[in-house]
Amino acid sequence: MRTFIVSAFVAYSTLALAAPSAKSTLKLKESVVAPRGWTKREAAPRDLPINLRIALPQSNFPLLEQHLYEVSDPSHARYGAHLSKEEVNELIAPPPESVDAVTSWLAAHGLDEGDLVRSPAGDWIKVKVPVSLAEEMFDTEYHVWEHTSGDMLVRTTAYGLPEHLHSHVELVQPTTLFSRFRGMKTTFHFTGEAVDTSSATSAPAISVPSASGGQVDASCNTTITVSCLKQLYNAVGYTPLNNTGNQIAATGYLDQFADLADLQSFFAEEVPDAVGSTFDLVSINGGQNDQSEPGGEANLGEYTQFAFGIAFPIPSTFFTTAGSPPFIPDIGTPTDSNEPYLDWLDFVLNQTSLPQTISTSYGDDEQTVPESFAQRVCAGFAQLGAQGVTLTFSSGDGGVGDGDPDPATTECITNDGTDRVQFIPAFPASCPFVTAVGGTTNVPETAIFFSGGGFSNFFARPSYQDQVVSNFLNNLAPGTFEGLFNTSGRAYPDVSAQANNFLIFFAGEEALIGGTSAAAPTFAGFVSLLNDARIRAGQPSLGFLNPLIYSLSSGFNDITTGNNPGCGTDGFNATVGWDPVTGLGTPNFGVLKDLVLSA
Ligand SMILES: *[C@@H]1O[C@H](CO)[C@@H](O)[C@H](O)[C@H]1NC(C)=O
Ligand SMILES: *[C@@H]1O[C@H](CO)[C@@H](O)[C@H](O)[C@H]1NC(C)=O
Ligand SMILES: *[C@@H]1O[C@H](CO)[C@@H](O)[C@H](O)[C@H]1NC(C)=O
Ligand SMILES: *[C@@H]1O[C@H](CO)[C@@H](O)[C@H](O)[C@H]1NC(C)=O
Ligand SMILES: *[C@@H]1O[C@H](CO)[C@@H](O)[C@H](O)[C@H]1NC(C)=O
Repeated sequence: MRTFIVSAFVAYSTLALAAPSAKSTLKLKESVVAPRGWTKREAAPRDLPINLRIALPQSNFPLLEQHLYEVSDPSHARYGAHLSKEEVNELIAPPPESVDAVTSWLAAHGLDEGDLVRSPAGDWIKVKVPVSLAEEMFDTEYHVWEHTSGDMLVRTTAYGLPEHLHSHVELVQPTTLFSRFRGMKTTFHFTGEAVDTSSATSAPAISVPSASGGQVDASCNTTITVSCLKQLYNAVGYTPLNNTGNQIAATGYLDQFADLADLQSFFAEEVPDAVGSTFDLVSINGGQNDQSEPGGEANLGEYTQFAFGIAFPIPSTFFTTAGSPPFIPDIGTPTDSNEPYLDWLDFVLNQTSLPQTISTSYGDDEQTVPESFAQRVCAGFAQLGAQGVTLTFSSGDGGVGDGDPDPATTECITNDGTDRVQFIPAFPASCPFVTAVGGTTNVPETAIFFSGGGFSNFFARPSYQDQVVSNFLNNLAPGTFEGLFNTSGRAYPDVSAQANNFLIFFAGEEALIGGTSAAAPTFAGFVSLLNDARIRAGQPSLGFLNPLIYSLSSGFNDITTGNNPGCGTDGFNATVGWDPVTGLGTPNFGVLKDLVLSA
C-alpha cells in the first residue's frame, strides 16, 4: 500500500501552468554512456508504469555538512551534540520556489498532489507514471536494457527538463542509473567437515603484542571466529550491556536475507551465550527474509553472524530492503528505480530512534553510478551521521579495480567514451561520510590482496584525511600510477579488519567465506562495543567516525605488508601510516575504548 505524505515544511503552490512545456523547450539535464555489459534492446512498453523519483535541491546542505563536522570532531565544543531528525529535515528542505516550480510542472502534466509522495523534508517527490508520459516530460525514449548477467532494466541514457526547472531539480531516476549494487563476497566454500577451532588441540598461540594477553590462538591463522577477532582486536573480557539503548544493525538488499536457523548454529559454535537470542527484522518496501529457502544463494551469514556475534548482547536489527523487481518484459512487471539505498534512506531517515552503528556490504563501481545520484545518496548518509549514526561500508573486493594484475586482460576501462585504463573506485565506499572498511588476512595481519582501495573521482578529499593522504602520496615514487587515479579525490578505505576465512553457517553447514563483506560488519561490531562504553559513561554515540579516527595517534594496528592488485598493476602497497589498502589499520579495542571515553 502506498501512503501519501505532505510535509508540514512544504508549502506547495496551487498555481498550475496553462499547458505542458513543448518538447522543444526542454534542455538536456543529464546524459551518460551506459556502463559496459549493458545492451540496448527494444523500446519500453508505452503503458509500463515507472516509479519516478525527483530530487529537489537541498540548498542548505553546506550548513548541514558544517553541523555534521562540528558534532563529529572531538576537538570541537559541540562534539557529540547530534542533531534531531527535525533539525536535519529543516536543513535539507528545498527552497519554496523549487517546490512551487516542480509542483506546477507536475500539475501541468496532470499529476496532482494526490499522485505525489513527498519525503518528510520535501526534498524528494515520488510519482508513478507510464513510460509514455515520462518520455514526454523528459523528451527522451526509454528502452529495455539487458545486462550480460541476464538482468533487465528500463532506462534511458539522457533526459531533459524545461530550462527554468534545471535549478529546481537535481536529478530524476530511474533514467540514467545502470549500476548493479552487488554484495561484496569473493570466496565461499563449504568446509566439508567440522573445523577445529579449539586452541587446546592446536599449535602454540601466535604472539601478537597488541592482542588481548599478547597472543592469539594458532587456529586463527586459518579460520576466523568471533573469539579470534576479540583476541586479535583486544576486546577479550569486555562485556557490553543489552539495555543501554545502544543498537547495531546490518542491511540486506535485493532479496538477500539472513537465515535465523544458521544464526543459531553459529551462536552455538562461536557465541554460546547468545543461543536463543535473535535480531529484529525490519522489512522495507516488502524486502524479503524468506526462511523457507535457507540454501538460497543470498544468505547473508557474514553480514549478520559476525556483527551480531561480536556485539552480543547489544540488540541487533537486520534491515531487508526490496530491490525493485527486475524488469521482465514478458510478464509486464512494472519497472522500478532499483535504487535500494534511496528506499532504505527514505525509511531510516524517517525513524525517530536509529541504531547507532549500521553496516552495509554492498557497492558498485563509482563510474556506473550517475554522479548526481551518488551525491544525493552520500548526502543521505551525512544526514544519518549528523544524527549520531556510524555507517560502515565494505571497500570492495577488486583491489584498485578489477583485481586483475594483468594489463592485457584488465577490465578497468573508463566509461566516459575514451576507453582509457584507470583504477575504478567503488561507491558508496568513496562517499566521505561513511567509514570504508578494507581487508586483512592471517595472524600476524597482512593486507588481503583483494582489499578495495583508491581515490574517488566524484568526491574531493575531505580535510580530515588531508594530512595522512598527502603523506602517503608524497612517499610514492614520482610518477607512480600517473593518470590511473585521482590524487585529489576522497581516499579509502579508512580502516580495515580481517576479511578471509570467516567461519559462518550456511544452510546448516559450516562454510568459510572471504570478502570485505565480512570486514565491514566486523569493524561495526567493535564500534558498537565502543558505543556501549560511551553510552554507559553517559556520553553520546560516536556517530560519523572519520574525523575522530583520523585525529587519533593510536588505537589502530598499522598494517604495513601486502598490496591490492588490479587494473593490470600490483596496486598500492600497505605502508607505515594510512594507505589505500588497509587505511589506518585494524582496531585495537582496548586502546580505542580509553581514547573514546576521553574524546
Ligand atoms: C599464518 O599463515 C601464513 C599463510 O599461510 C603463513 O605464512 C604464516 O607463517 C602463518 N603464521 C604463523 C604464525 O603460523
Ligand atoms: C538483557 O539481559 C538480561 C540478563 O541476561 C535478560 O534477562 C533480559 O531479557 C535481556 N533484555 C533484553 C532486552 O534483551
Ligand atoms: C514517516 O513516519 C511517519 C510517522 O511514523 C509516517 O506516518 C509516515 O508515513 C512516514 N513517511 C514516510 C515517507 O515513510
Ligand atoms: C578528480 O577529483 C576531483 C575532486 O573530486 C574532481 O573534481 C575531478 O573531476 C576528478 N577528475 C576526474 C578526471 O574525474
Ligand atoms: C611496493 O613495494 C615494492 C617493494 O618494495 C616496490 O617495488 C613497488 O614499487 C611498490 N609499489 C608502489 C605502488 O609503491
